Amino acid sequence: MAKQRIILIGCGIMAQQHIARFEAVADRVEITAVVDVVRERAQAVSDLLPNHPPVFTDYHDALSCGDAVLQSLPHHLHAQCVIDCLDAGLHVLSEKPLANTEEECLAMIEAAKRNRRILMVAYCMRYHPLLREMHRLIKEETFGKCFQFSIWTEQLTMLRSEWLGSRKTLGGGQLFSHGCHYIDLMLWMMGNPVRGAHFGTNLGTPWMDREGTSNVCLQFESGALGYHFGTWGARGTKMGYDFQAHCEQGLIQLDFYGGKLIFRCKDPEHIPGKPVTSQETLLMEAIKAKPTAEEMAHFIDCIENGRTPETTPEESLQGLRVIWRLYEAEDAGKLADLRGLGFDGIK
Ligand SMILES: NC(=O)c1ccc[n+]([C@@H]2O[C@H](COP(=O)([O-])OP(=O)(O)OC[C@H]3O[C@@H](n4cnc5c(N)ncnc54)[C@H](O)[C@@H]3O)[C@@H](O)[C@H]2O)c1
Repeated sequence: MAKQRIILIGCGIMAQQHIARFEAVADRVEITAVVDVVRERAQAVSDLLPNHPPVFTDYHDALSCGDAVLQSLPHHLHAQCVIDCLDAGLHVLSEKPLANTEEECLAMIEAAKRNRRILMVAYCMRYHPLLREMHRLIKEETFGKCFQFSIWTEQLTMLRSEWLGSRKTLGGGQLFSHGCHYIDLMLWMMGNPVRGAHFGTNLGTPWMDREGTSNVCLQFESGALGYHFGTWGARGTKMGYDFQAHCEQGLIQLDFYGGKLIFRCKDPEHIPGKPVTSQETLLMEAIKAKPTAEEMAHFIDCIENGRTPETTPEESLQGLRVIWRLYEAEDAGKLADLRGLGFDGIK
């Protein structure tokens, strides 16, 4: 089958991470144009690619160069660019979060439908082999029902571009920008939420005008609970990226940096009244890398086979609605009612 011709729009940090892993899909994908408003950034990306694709500073001039687009722009520019690309007949893999407002997200979904083109959201973590296995184990209740799902992410993200610090261009704070991955994951793993609360602070990250550190607590329809702690202010770390599912028979833990999925259950030698010690079973290992190659392979599969992507814009909007409700409730000093925010629910 002919390679899909992809136009890269936005050549900042994320686009560089994408192309660093393109080798794995090189037989299926060719980058045929690179675009950045800063010509030198687009040129630098073109120089890294084997075919040195042409460079543009205005994406409108590049739209005839490909079949599909990988969009990696600042958040406030997502909606217009994605709609223009879809209207030009291109399929789009759009970086997260989908867009900064409900209206923009709905207009993007409508543009994809109108043009019968694929719009896939780049929630790359959903394509991570260890997270996919964790999802299977939770859905199949292999270790019983999950009653607590927790996610930690610790990063140090300084203000390298103005748009990252401002709630207007970023769309919110750390929760909206980075935590959207993990709200999406929690909904995917645990189902629809019913209520929740968010606390954020920009202490430790004064370059953020909304929060740079975020704590979220959710309750799901099943009665299970979810917790997410994310910070952009970590000057040291022990947990790194860690995902934990407490189930009726034990704990499934995904140590992201260690590349390990582990099951821990109570040691049979355990003496009641003493601190719990656990037996460890290694369930699966994987290399520690952002699964952007797997994500791109899925996008290509969807284009070639007319399949609906796993990370649809509709599901993505449900996750963003959860975040917007959490922010509204936080600002009003209330608990957030999170019922009825979805389309057909996240599968
Ligand atoms: N999936 C992930 O793990 C992950 C990680 C980081 C960033 N992201 C996402 O990637 C996207 C980009 O983030 P980033 O960190 O690379 O930002 P960045 O600021 O490093 O890069 C954005 C690029 O867009 C360019 N740009 C701005 N306006 C433009 C325009 N009108 N036309 C063409 N180019 C324009 C800028 O010059 C810059 O090079 C965001 O949606 C972000 O949330 C995803």
